[in-house]
Parts: sequence; C-alpha cells; structure tokens
Amino acid sequence: MKLVNHGIPPELMDTVERMTKGHYKKCMEQRFKELVASKGLEYVETEVHDLDWESTFHLKHLPVSNISQIPDLDDDYRKVMKEFAVNLEKLAEDLMDLLCENLGLEKGYLKKAFHGSNGPNFGTKVSNYPPCPKPDLIKGLRAHTDAGGIVLLFQDDKVSGLQLLKDGQWVDVPPMHHSIVVNLGDQIEVITNGKYKSVLHRVVAQTDGNRMSIASFYNPGSDAVIYPAPALVESKAEEAGEAAYPKFVFEDYMKLYAALKFQAKEPRFQAMKAMESSPNLESIATA
Ligand SMILES: [Fe+2]
Repeated sequence: MKLVNHGIPPELMDTVERMTKGHYKKCMEQRFKELVASKGLEYVETEVHDLDWESTFHLKHLPVSNISQIPDLDDDYRKVMKEFAVNLEKLAEDLMDLLCENLGLEKGYLKKAFHGSNGPNFGTKVSNYPPCPKPDLIKGLRAHTDAGGIVLLFQDDKVSGLQLLKDGQWVDVPPMHHSIVVNLGDQIEVITNGKYKSVLHRVVAQTDGNRMSIASFYNPGSDAVIYPAPALVESKAEEAGEAAYPKFVFEDYMKLYAALKFQAKEPRFQAMKAMESSPNLESIATA
C-alpha cells in the first residue's frame, strides 16, 4: 500500500532526498563505478544471479543509533536522517496499531510482540540504483520478501523500478511525490497467522536515471519470540499444534534469511518449524 497525508513534513522529505542524492554523487558514485568495472558488469552476456545493481549503506536507529559512526556523512545529513527516522518510527508504530485494529487484536499487541528484551530493531537501508546498461541481465535488487515487520519506503519521485508480484504478474509501483510505500515482512505474516502476507518484490534498474530508495525496517527485537497470535489461530488442527506457521526467536530467523533471502519464504518457515520440533538441528538453518 501507499500512504499520503502520513504526517511526515514534505519539506523534510525534500531535504532527505536532496541530501541523499548529493551524498551518492559525492561519496558513492565513483566507488560503484569502480566495482562495476572490476567485475566487468557492463559486458555480461548471461543473467547474473549472485549480485544486485545497487549502491547502499545502512543506518541503525533502534535499539541504539549508529548514525554518528557511519563514515562520509555530513553532520547536516546525519541530523536530517535522525529526524526522518523519528518520524518513521512513529508512523510504523501507528500503522502497527491500525493492523491490530483491522485484525481485532488489542491495541499495542504487535508492538509488544516485537519488543523482546531491548525493544524493536529499527534501521534504514539507503540505496541508489544507477543507470544499468543490461537491466534484463542484472536486477537492481533480486526478487525477495522482506524478513522483518513493517518496511516504510521513500522512493525516488521520478525514476521507477520497484515491482511487486500480484496474481503471478510483476506490477510496477510507480513514483508518487511525497508518498510512503508500505511493505509487510515475513514476521507480520507469521504473527497474523497469514491474515497479512509478505509480498514478493524486486527492483528493475533503469537504463537511464538514478533511482533513490530509502527503506526503513521496523523489525522485532533480536530475542523476541515470534509466533501466530492465539486470537488469530482458528481451526482445531491448528490449536492442536499443527499450526501453519512456526514459533521461533527472531534472530534465528535472520540467520536463516541471510543465506536464503532470494528464495521463497515457505522453505524458511518450514526450516523454522523443523527447528522448533528438533531445536538441536542447527544444520537445517545453515544448509
Ligand atoms: Fe525488500
């Protein structure tokens, strides 16, 4: 879904966009060009399956911010990204309560489910997708579902590229000025017992135009235990333990996801289920 009138000041979004694009030009573009040249990516003739045509860096906001330690950022840019993150955190929490309301869960249920001992993990992946000479052979970002909770995406207002899979077809998510695209991750699918599904999406790089994408991930705390909300488990079989979704610690899921991000989510859920019944079978998680 796409949000407008989300309460984040448009002037702040304009500043974030301007500074992010300026930072890419100043600090990232040359590095990306060197990477492309070193791997000969401009001249590939068969489809590339092991990397993405993207230039990225990551910021962490919660439980502890690392913005002051990220190299190459101007102080003004750090300050603006911090302010943007505060706005996004509030938006993510408001959205979680809207999901609770829609599902008939008590207010705050999802926030509590995400809390663990230290509160949620909240971070931002700042990406640029530079012009790509072979977009049919190298994806900007290969198809995947997001691992975590709620993802709030501030994407370029001119250069398109994001697509999601709907009824077996890739559908464009076109730019819309000052909007925030909301994506739900695998954890929301598990907790809602499949009432909300994580969605497969990808980025197709463009032959011209540099696409900016700022994706902020509101995820469970590392030691949060994730399982379907009992109020959403309906059938007798499910109640008797044959649940469709597993119960696990979030960081265990992330270890598995790190290796299997670009594969279907169902085998990940099955592997977590196998670990649940045989917690010593760690090899399943790393296979
Ligand atoms: Fe994603």
